[in-house]
Amino acid sequence: MSKEKLYEGKAKVIYTTDNPDELLVYYKDDATAGNGAKKGTIMEKGILNNKISAFFFDMLAENNIEHHYISMPSEREMIVKKLDIIPLEVVLRNVAAGSLAQRLGVEEGTKLSTPVLEYYYKCDELGDPMINQFHIKAMNWATEDELAQIEKLGLKINDIMTKYLKTKNIDLIDFKLEFGRYHGKVILGDEISPDNCRFWDSETHEKLDKDRFRRDLGNVEDAYKEILHRLTGEKA
Ligand code: CDP
Repeated sequence: MSKEKLYEGKAKVIYTTDNPDELLVYYKDDATAGNGAKKGTIMEKGILNNKISAFFFDMLAENNIEHHYISMPSEREMIVKKLDIIPLEVVLRNVAAGSLAQRLGVEEGTKLSTPVLEYYYKCDELGDPMINQFHIKAMNWATEDELAQIEKLGLKINDIMTKYLKTKNIDLIDFKLEFGRYHGKVILGDEISPDNCRFWDSETHEKLDKDRFRRDLGNVEDAYKEILHRLTGEKA
């Protein structure tokens, strides 16, 4: 496989492959929070996130959601379809936490009556500012039709994931998705892992996600391992 580095992000490195339609994603152990203000390493995070993401992509495919994941050649690597990435972070929320709890002045853990979908412009230099559909159309980041597809897919994925995770005694508080164009269709890209989801134990409300790193709560690795274990039965 020809491996030309295309891009290195905060948690992943993207390489070309021999197939122009496919890329290789390498999952690192690096962790950042507050748009890079806090930096660290979470041991084995790359392996755990690769496996957790692959699990979610497979589960979503069974529920007729199209995504970019193709195969896992190694514990830290994923082969994916090359997408034309839409520069949006699409956040879905079921319970107020993090920035939403702050913005609305409610206690973290306040249940939302209906799911909330938010858009952020994917731009590190600007700190991923929150935007709405009007900004997206005015800047030609996505068309009206693409936004309709993103909204429908986002809400459907939230529904599937929330119901599935409940069977594993996990509450899906909120999470972030990214989408891209592939042969004229909008499909799911990026990753789905404790790095970009808030997972709380349904009974104890213990945080099993990156908030353990962001807020220095300790047992960060154990939380990621616990998610993989509950999903797949695998003990990491
Ligand atoms: O995490 P923070 O409180 O800064 O932001 P948020 O808007 O409350 O995050 C909502 C959800 O999106 C959380 O599950 C985050 O992990 C995720 N997120 C992300 O993956 N990447 C971002 N740049 C921002 C949020």
